[in-house]
Amino acid sequence: MERKLPFVLAITGASGSIYGLRLLQYLLEMEQPVELLVSRGAKEVMATEMDLHFAADLKPELLTFLSLPSSAPLVLHRVDDYGASVASGSYPTRGMAVVPCSLGTLGAIAAGLSESLIHRAAAVCLKEKRPLLVLLREMPFGQIQIKNMLALSEAGATVACASPAFYHQPQSVSDMVDFVVGRTLDQFGFDHSLFKRWKEEVQPLNVPGKI
Ligand SMILES: Cc1cc2nc3c(=O)[nH]c(=O)nc-3n(C[C@H](O)[C@H](O)[C@H](O)COP(=O)(O)O)c2cc1C
Repeated sequence: MERKLPFVLAITGASGSIYGLRLLQYLLEMEQPVELLVSRGAKEVMATEMDLHFAADLKPELLTFLSLPSSAPLVLHRVDDYGASVASGSYPTRGMAVVPCSLGTLGAIAAGLSESLIHRAAAVCLKEKRPLLVLLREMPFGQIQIKNMLALSEAGATVACASPAFYHQPQSVSDMVDFVVGRTLDQFGFDHSLFKRWKEEVQPLNVPGKI
């Protein structure tokens, strides 16, 4: 059987940590190997927004929270571990998503900084011409952020915003989250049925457990 390339997911300290967690849950449900990076800011936001207070050993707690077995194909990296697999371009991956992406991380990636493994892994994706997506959650944007978004887009990244649509008639916050997560999966060519597509007659099927 063909080996699935790992997917790099970074969760940073913008509001909307639920987007990153739901994306992680869905990828792992699909048995997609994930290399996960969680910034200190993200942990702070998760505590505020989702009442999630992780102890030192984040991985088992995350898997329990996401109702996933300990066998889920998840590798968690410390963000100061520059010796990690994803710090090198010779380690093949399917691409990387930063969900949600804080304005600080946007600026660091746009400037080519390597102050955390998240920035380094993103720089690796850009130099190796692998897909990189940053999902921002902000309003309004200042000129500096708009320039940073343009710089990243010109460098080959996909710049997205957590803006749920309403044409699929969401009934809950969870439906709105799934729309944004589904559109994120679309950018990497992952098959999913997280929301009813425009002009699609059938209801979405086989949606794994929601958060
Ligand atoms: C509850 C909470 C919500 C936040 N929301 C945002 C946000 O939406 N966008 C943003 O850029 N920063 C936000 N921040 C600030 C970032 O977490 C902070 O700038 C952090 O240093 C970002 O670092 P990181 O990119 O390494 O996670 C928020 C912080 C907290 C505590």
